[in-house]
Amino acid sequence: MIAERLSLASGLARQAGDILRQAYGKAVEAKHKGEVDLVTEFDLRAEHLLTQALRAAFPQDAILAEEGGSSGSGELTWVIDPLDGTTNFAHGVPLFCVSIACVRDHQPLLGVVYDPMRDELFAASAGGGATLDDRPIHVSTTRRLDQSLLVTGFPYDIRTNPDNNLNHYARFAVLSLGVRRLGSAALDLAYVACGRFDGFWEFRLSPWDFAAGLLLAREAGGTVTRADGGPDVFVEPTSILATNGHLHAVMLEELRKGVEAG
Ligand code: IPD
Ligand code: CA
Ligand code: CA
Repeated sequence: MIAERLSLASGLARQAGDILRQAYGKAVEAKHKGEVDLVTEFDLRAEHLLTQALRAAFPQDAILAEEGGSSGSGELTWVIDPLDGTTNFAHGVPLFCVSIACVRDHQPLLGVVYDPMRDELFAASAGGGATLDDRPIHVSTTRRLDQSLLVTGFPYDIRTNPDNNLNHYARFAVLSLGVRRLGSAALDLAYVACGRFDGFWEFRLSPWDFAAGLLLAREAGGTVTRADGGPDVFVEPTSILATNGHLHAVMLEELRKGVEAG
């Protein structure tokens, strides 16, 4: 049941990625969904391709897609971000991806993240491990925070939300080797899964940003929880901490101190 869906999702992620790669670098018109939240016609085109094909192949499944919202009902839900990293894409920065997960009761059963610019396909199934271009991947072995490379992101309402992650960013920037901000949460998680980053945290993401990447990181041997250590990342307001496991306790502790310091 899952193998068939994983294989279809992998092929579709590549097809949606082709749409994005062909449009990349051309004058892309971006519309504002919010003050700093962009959408392009290619988000919509890629999502259309994915939802049409998934609906046709698995009409019994529900779909939750970033641009089109929820449709259908069923035991399994496809959770789709057709273009994670829209701001990068619209600015000609080659850091974005297609993210597809199939989820049951807040548990991703499969996840695919495809980076069309590097032609890298990350895939995982629950209990089946994680791969990059069909080769098994593993999280890093870094045990010390001061030797770790971390990544994070900031919410779109950063201008108005006092809970804007800048306090945690400042703490980890001095405690680690460095904190990156790629602008694609799904890629951030895929990079934790394959050991490029040692840890990732972010607040107020949507399910389509993290559903696939969460499974990649877990199946690659990492630990994924809420930023307060709770188990269910899907519960709102969402928060996520994904690490190589070794750094999980110390990062949870620093996040707790950051909240206390305000
Ligand atoms: C965004 C990216 C970004 C994260 C934002 C997301 P989008 O997704 O994942 O890294 O910081 O919160 O909304 O809008 O490019 O699909
Ligand atoms: Ca996204
Ligand atoms: Ca998106």
